[in-house]
Amino acid sequence: MPHASPLKYQSGFGNEFATEAHPGALPIGQNSPQKHPLGLYTEQVSGSAFAAPRGLNRRSWMYRIRPSVVHEPYQPFPEATLLRSGPFDEEPTPPNQMRWDPIPFPITPTDFVEGLVSLGGNGDPATHDGAGIHLYTANASMTDRVFYNADGELLILPQQGTLRLVTECGILEVKPGHLAVIPRGIKFRVELLDDKARGYICENYGQPFRLPDLGPIGANGLANPRDFLTPVAAYEDIDGDFEVVSKFLGKLWTSHYNHSPLDVVAWHGNYAPYMYDMARFNVINTVSFDHPDPSIFTVLTAPSPIHGTPNIDFAIFPPRWLVAEHTFRPPWFHRNMMNEFMGLIYGEYDAKAEGFLPGGASLHNCMSGHGPDAETFERASAADLKPHHIKDTLAFMFETRMAVRPTRYALEEKILQHEYYECWQGLKRNFTVPKP
Ligand SMILES: [Fe+2]
Repeated sequence: MPHASPLKYQSGFGNEFATEAHPGALPIGQNSPQKHPLGLYTEQVSGSAFAAPRGLNRRSWMYRIRPSVVHEPYQPFPEATLLRSGPFDEEPTPPNQMRWDPIPFPITPTDFVEGLVSLGGNGDPATHDGAGIHLYTANASMTDRVFYNADGELLILPQQGTLRLVTECGILEVKPGHLAVIPRGIKFRVELLDDKARGYICENYGQPFRLPDLGPIGANGLANPRDFLTPVAAYEDIDGDFEVVSKFLGKLWTSHYNHSPLDVVAWHGNYAPYMYDMARFNVINTVSFDHPDPSIFTVLTAPSPIHGTPNIDFAIFPPRWLVAEHTFRPPWFHRNMMNEFMGLIYGEYDAKAEGFLPGGASLHNCMSGHGPDAETFERASAADLKPHHIKDTLAFMFETRMAVRPTRYALEEKILQHEYYECWQGLKRNFTVPKP
């Protein structure tokens, strides 16, 4: 029988958590006793190399009804999906600014795995570098299907509909405004608590997301560690036919288990799923003048081998006060070495008058100029600079070191806004040559 405990979370980021669904399921004082008192199997899952420095080392010990190895051989997943993976070389990548409408919801029954659609990405899971950027739409829960991703961790951002993520480590419920991170390799099932769901996913092939250093900000601010929640142990004890879908080296594979693989009765360690309510983000911004770089909005960062140049920064643009004096308040025109994929959970983004819709996306790759559209430029240049409260909005950005290479779907489907460039064409010449 399933033993789904009520939702209960442990607080903290990357803590050494310890949780058991039954007293005595978690061995005390050692990881791998010769004989478990409740007859559970011991299994370690490592999310880092064994000898990674202590601050970067991630692993958990699981005590489960059967070990993960009890399954039939994996076969190629038989259904065609729109999920793509690095090296994302389907089509040449133009340097154009790109923007997409929200992808439509499916008409036929579609679960989370079947409804994954890739817009682009970079790098390669084989080299543990880069990222895949996906959207999901679903109108059906996974039932006897479980998914895990050997290619990277999954940062999941619901945009519509609440998800119940039933994982090996316990259960998370996330709704629009929350984020969830499922580490590489952790199995999970996605159940829908509404009739349909849509959202964004950043698949991080590289080093796991962590909290950014705060520098002169000090010990507190931005995303605070105690607001990250990890589930307590909850397990299923069910015999029957279960399908496990694996993403491994860019392809989907499928295997059958004769029992639920979500059978971890107790676990301890620092390698586990977590969630975060982005309304808890402590926004830091200017109280004098000018527009800080968007790094001030970083929630999570995934480092690359180059110091200060992340594989991925995850930044958000939440409700906040704008108070800068004698300043053009929206982001100015800019061109960056880094690459900016943006999405909108809800509301309006302050740098665009229209066209950037909840569930939609935009991409401004390396050195591609972008910034406020003509209408926003005119408005912000003439705005009365009283304190202004931006309310009811949540945009985000996946900022990546390597250019995001759109998939064929992203370049050819009609959700691509071919007229996006026109939003800047109304920017007039305002220069006045000074009289000698
Ligand atoms: Fe930008």
